[in-house]
Amino acid sequence: MRVFVTGASGHLGSAIVPELLAAGHDVVGLARSDAGAATVTAYGATAHRGDLADPGAIAKAAADCDGVIHLAFNHEQLRSGNFPAAVAADLALVHALGDALAGAGKPLVAASGTLGLVSAGLGRPGTEEDAGGPGGRTDNENAVLALAERGIRASVVRIPPITHSTLDRGGFARTLIAIAQRTGVAGYPGDGTNRWPAGHTLDVGHLFCLALANAPAGTRWHAAGDEGIELREIAQSIGDHLGVPTASIPADRLQAHFGFLAMVIALDNPTSTTVTRQVLGWEPTHQGLLAEFETGDYFKGL
Ligand SMILES: NC(=O)c1ccc[n+]([C@@H]2O[C@H](COP(=O)([O-])OP(=O)(O)OC[C@H]3O[C@@H](n4cnc5c(N)ncnc54)[C@H](OP(=O)(O)O)[C@@H]3O)[C@@H](O)[C@H]2O)c1
Repeated sequence: MRVFVTGASGHLGSAIVPELLAAGHDVVGLARSDAGAATVTAYGATAHRGDLADPGAIAKAAADCDGVIHLAFNHEQLRSGNFPAAVAADLALVHALGDALAGAGKPLVAASGTLGLVSAGLGRPGTEEDAGGPGGRTDNENAVLALAERGIRASVVRIPPITHSTLDRGGFARTLIAIAQRTGVAGYPGDGTNRWPAGHTLDVGHLFCLALANAPAGTRWHAAGDEGIELREIAQSIGDHLGVPTASIPADRLQAHFGFLAMVIALDNPTSTTVTRQVLGWEPTHQGLLAEFETGDYFKGL
């Protein structure tokens, strides 16, 4: 299959593109810069230059392929506090992909996040059948799923807020470590019993490949090897490795301590993966987050 991958030069692309190539697929990877193009071609894929600012051009190139994995997201806008702009650009591309791929029956697998389940107010672990609550990227997720009605085998992989491995350069695990290092405190919100799921990059990437091959139209999948780790456990491990104290951060200091992460740090996001495992046969084979921290790789050279 010839697969078009947006975000091919990013963290998840570094797992997904090599896995697709190893499985014998041809990969065309979107790149917005010379550096991105060099990354994509170094994997052995073909680079296609384009930017989220021109979704129509990206969608046209995607339609020349047999399947699409959509990972690109402007995280610089998220980190600078303009999350809505990043979400809007993503939604524009989803609509453009819908117009370009309609009726062709091709697979489209798009990245989303497990955190959208929190605002659904479930009071239990979120499942693949649960729609996300209002706000965040839920509209985008629903827009992808709606493409099933337009003759596209569209599906969504919900990624946990922490995706970890030695391939991670700037994900939330690294952000939490950097904050603890800068402030001298490995902080957690309130009593720290809120839970975040986590996934190893290679396990998350493998789920995208399984979904590309087999996901029925209009389905959601959960890429969480760890279904929910308490934030105080994450902070404790970071504190131990950095040699800084672990402490609760009161609600009125979350913004000052965690910066842009304040909008998600106190969320409780236990996430079930039962359906993903049973239906797609996804089985995480790589270490969990706390075991990864124990290897010390995240703390080398700090
Ligand atoms: N990793 C996680 O923990 C996690 C958790 C939840 C959801 N997700 C979602 O999963 C997807 C992939 O995440 P990731 O961790 O691989 O992100 P990443 O490492 O930040 O990579 C983002 C990719 O998007 C590209 N990109 C950014 N702005 C662009 C633009 N204006 N035009 C074209 N391409 C652009 C980047 O290109 P450059 O290489 O040029 O920067 C890069 O290839 C995203 O939708 C993300 O929000 C990830």
